[in-house]
Amino acid sequence: MDDHRADLLAAHRQYLYPAVTPLYGEHPIIVERARDQYVWDVDGTRYLDFFGGVLTVSVGHANEEVTACTIAQLQTVQHTSTLYLNPIMVRLAQKLAEITPGRLQRTYFTSSGTEANETAVLTARMYTGHQEVITLRHAYAGRSVLGMSLTGQGTWRLGGATDPHVRHVRNPYPYRLPPGLDPDRLVDFLVQDLEETLATVTGGKLAAFMAEPIQGVGGFIVAPADYFKRIWPVVRAAGGLLIIDEVQTGWGRTGHFWCGIEHWGVEPDIITFAKGLANGAPIGATITTPEIAEAVQGLTFATFGGNPVSMASALATIEFIEKHNLLENAAVQGARLRAGLEALRADFPLIGDVRGMGLMQALEIVQPGQAPDRPALSRWWTAARAS
Ligand SMILES: Cc1ncc(COP(=O)(O)O)c(C=O)c1O
Repeated sequence: MDDHRADLLAAHRQYLYPAVTPLYGEHPIIVERARDQYVWDVDGTRYLDFFGGVLTVSVGHANEEVTACTIAQLQTVQHTSTLYLNPIMVRLAQKLAEITPGRLQRTYFTSSGTEANETAVLTARMYTGHQEVITLRHAYAGRSVLGMSLTGQGTWRLGGATDPHVRHVRNPYPYRLPPGLDPDRLVDFLVQDLEETLATVTGGKLAAFMAEPIQGVGGFIVAPADYFKRIWPVVRAAGGLLIIDEVQTGWGRTGHFWCGIEHWGVEPDIITFAKGLANGAPIGATITTPEIAEAVQGLTFATFGGNPVSMASALATIEFIEKHNLLENAAVQGARLRAGLEALRADFPLIGDVRGMGLMQALEIVQPGQAPDRPALSRWWTAARAS
């Protein structure tokens, strides 16, 4: 089997971009099959998939109910595009309008989180007539040129291409405060930073402020409870919309609610979804209010947006979550997980912080003094791979 792995790895390197890098160096896992929370490699070793695909497999690998609906749709109509009336796309859009917060009613479907965010920014720019978008350092928003421009992590911004109208303000990161700042003053400080950014590097007019409720790729960084309520009036005063990226936090992962932002008690103007919405099938969705959607007039088209197979997978995923009360289960199991992680922290000083909500939990691995400890992280990661 080692020869098979070596040959496959050599072919992978020969035929794919070097940027497509499998984990674990010379010994990547070749997944042969997957079921519920487990994957099995070609050697028959079973692993707990603690990452749920890439936060995509919301209701388990090869979920029988979702798979049955997906296959049934494949065998009926696989693709027609939005040039025809598409009943299952309309059903999913209606369902999203019912379960998302506030007045969000109109959806545009695409195939990825990147496209969902592109659509959101386009919508905000067309509605407000402004160009400037403010987002957060440590954000991740996708891999298109705009997606990378919105991303606030240098390692994920390739090609040097940037949208000139995107600015990054300091993110709410309670574990890493600016030196000397009283933790109780963090939100005041962030609001002031936003106001100063608006006044100095924009013309004071905003298309949108965009953020993830919990920064995913950034390290599951959870904003303080009053953060969104405090920045919202500043955004509105500059004429901007609030875009919330729920690509990671959506579909109950944070417990109790469908959307992570509901924990913060604000109603966004636009929400974007992808990843876990269709349990692993490609999907992106941008939902907004009727008035805002009205601003997007003209020719715009996504070939695979609203494709019936992804729509069927998404509807079945939502139905499964409802039927099994998984929003509450995420809160219950998340609390168990959190208690276990907190107990580990008590024993291991290299765990600097435990944070998250529901089943979206993280450990920050540090050296004494809080500096990130990459070698320890990589040892931990390798050890955690054991079945
Ligand atoms: C918060 C967030 N937004 C957007 C994206 C981009 O989604 P996609 O990879 O489907 O384009 C990701 C992907 O990891 C993400 O985590």
